[in-house]
Amino acid sequence: MNTDHADAARVSHTLHHPHPLLTRAVDHEVVGVRACVRPGDESPALDLGVLTGLVNPRRIGGGEVAQTMRCGPIEHVSDCRTGSPGSTDEFAIRVATMNVVDAVYKRKSIRKFRPDPVSDDDLRTLLVDAARAPSGGNVQPWRIYVVNGASMPRLKEFLATQPPLDAPEYEIYPAGLTEPYRTNRFALGEQMYATIGIPREDKEGRRRQFAANNDFFDAPAALFCFVDRQMGSPQWSDLGMFLQTFMLLAVERGMATCPQEYWSVRHKAVGTFVNAPENEMLFCGMAIGYADDSAAINTLESERMPLDQWASFV
Ligand SMILES: Cc1cc2nc3c(=O)[nH]c(=O)nc-3n(C[C@H](O)[C@H](O)[C@H](O)COP(=O)(O)O)c2cc1C
Repeated sequence: MNTDHADAARVSHTLHHPHPLLTRAVDHEVVGVRACVRPGDESPALDLGVLTGLVNPRRIGGGEVAQTMRCGPIEHVSDCRTGSPGSTDEFAIRVATMNVVDAVYKRKSIRKFRPDPVSDDDLRTLLVDAARAPSGGNVQPWRIYVVNGASMPRLKEFLATQPPLDAPEYEIYPAGLTEPYRTNRFALGEQMYATIGIPREDKEGRRRQFAANNDFFDAPAALFCFVDRQMGSPQWSDLGMFLQTFMLLAVERGMATCPQEYWSVRHKAVGTFVNAPENEMLFCGMAIGYADDSAAINTLESERMPLDQWASFV
């Protein structure tokens, strides 16, 4: 590895501190990033697939790419100077950028993940960025515990030793949920089980799918969102803003998530594992990783009510 490679490997973590090796964003659509490839190395393959990481240099063909822009799939690699695919030491990489509405529509709850690991650095950056979410009085009531890498199997081993069900500390849904909320909830369940061909009578199949929550749907990483017990519903709504911001930012990185209130029925085990203080209460967990696009359950596209059923212009 030459110096450039080594530098690229230490490339700075945010847009605010771009590494000198990186070219500037060309415009809002296209980001130019220089990859360093040693002369004599093989040219990077043109079929690069999706580079999901924001900051981690990825090995591509014979080179490494320093990628610090928030970008989607790499669309094109070419020689910086001639514009043609080549084997010189500098390559321009054109990547697709994602805007907010793209991320909003692309985000959905993913219930089967690939085993590909998630880096702690990525999670840290996501958390720092997500904390730009607003909160009433800027109280910032979210308290987050991250499980990743080796701590995931440790958590699963621990969970297996704990009671399978705790009484939740808050009501997940109001008792006697009225319409149209009840139907929305029911419809979601039916659509989800339909994607994996589990009919209503197949109680065991439904139980199995529910139990997949306990494995974070095979996601390699997760977070738990706690809140200080003194906080009330306004601060709980702030948690939602934080979590949605996190999920949208994850989409931008090619990552996927599933928020999980499921963990409210295992709050004691989770609280013990993460060593949360008594004054903190678990709101939800979140599975984090990369979507398994071949999984039938991930074809689910949840519906939304038409605008005029929930919004009035007065
Ligand atoms: C706070 C919260 C908790 C959730 N808990 C779970 C859960 O425990 N298990 C699950 O499979 N989905 C869970 N979901 C996902 C919802 O079912 C999902 O957001 C909803 O059906 C809309 O679908 P979408 O996220 O794909 O747009 C949760 C969502 C939120 C916002």
